[in-house]
Amino acid sequence: MRKKIIAANWKMNMTIAEAASFLEDFLLELGGEDHADVVIVPSFIAIPKVSELLNSVPGVKLGAQNMHWESSGAFTGEVSAPMLRELFVRYVVLGHSERRQYFGETDEIVNRKTKAALAASLTPIVCVGETLAQRESGQVEMVLEQQLRGSLADLNKAQLEDLVLAYEPVWAIGTGHTATPAQAQEAHAFILSVLTKLSSAATANKIRIQYGGSVKPGNTAELMAQPDIDGALVGGASLEARAFAEIVRNAVKQLP
Ligand code: PGA
Repeated sequence: MRKKIIAANWKMNMTIAEAASFLEDFLLELGGEDHADVVIVPSFIAIPKVSELLNSVPGVKLGAQNMHWESSGAFTGEVSAPMLRELFVRYVVLGHSERRQYFGETDEIVNRKTKAALAASLTPIVCVGETLAQRESGQVEMVLEQQLRGSLADLNKAQLEDLVLAYEPVWAIGTGHTATPAQAQEAHAFILSVLTKLSSAATANKIRIQYGGSVKPGNTAELMAQPDIDGALVGGASLEARAFAEIVRNAVKQLP
């Protein structure tokens, strides 16, 4: 079985001081028991501090919210994979719907970034997901397949096995309207079928697929109990240490 992976996408929240205080509380709350893999994804500014604080914490890794596809150069305002690597960042979220919606990121851009991340030994968390209008007009599968084929173009099996995917229906992000476990499972099973077409069943079965969109302590266990949901990308509820620790614990809880 694929080990669950829960990521805290802090988005444009948390100063350095707030991040430090969060981690102190979160690590205490979490305790030493066996839990899902955890990734903390702060703003670029808070990465050095979070890196320092997670230095000796096994099982809690560091991620970034974005990166450029080139390793250096005249790209004002951008951050590259080697810069992230220098701070012991292990994961990078790519193609989040907010990047696609507000910053014009296309599947082609996400594909370039994904290749650059893999080349730098960073694990990409590649996000896909449909809008409400697309769901209501019956286009979920078409949109997901197009995003997957574009974002993962030209990746070989070994590269595909090294990444994490996140299914994030745009209508569920930050809205409080979580996809039902059945809706999420249906989309995850479809994503798995596309990954199988792009590679093989053996490769697709190694790729973890997170669900994201209004994940909370109260809905985590049921979502994570679905056969093809391997973790969560958590926004709002990851800003509160106790709630996020509960989500991490609930992710591996057996339902009665
Ligand atoms: P949310 O955000 O948990 O606040 O809905 C999820 C995400 O955008 O990754």
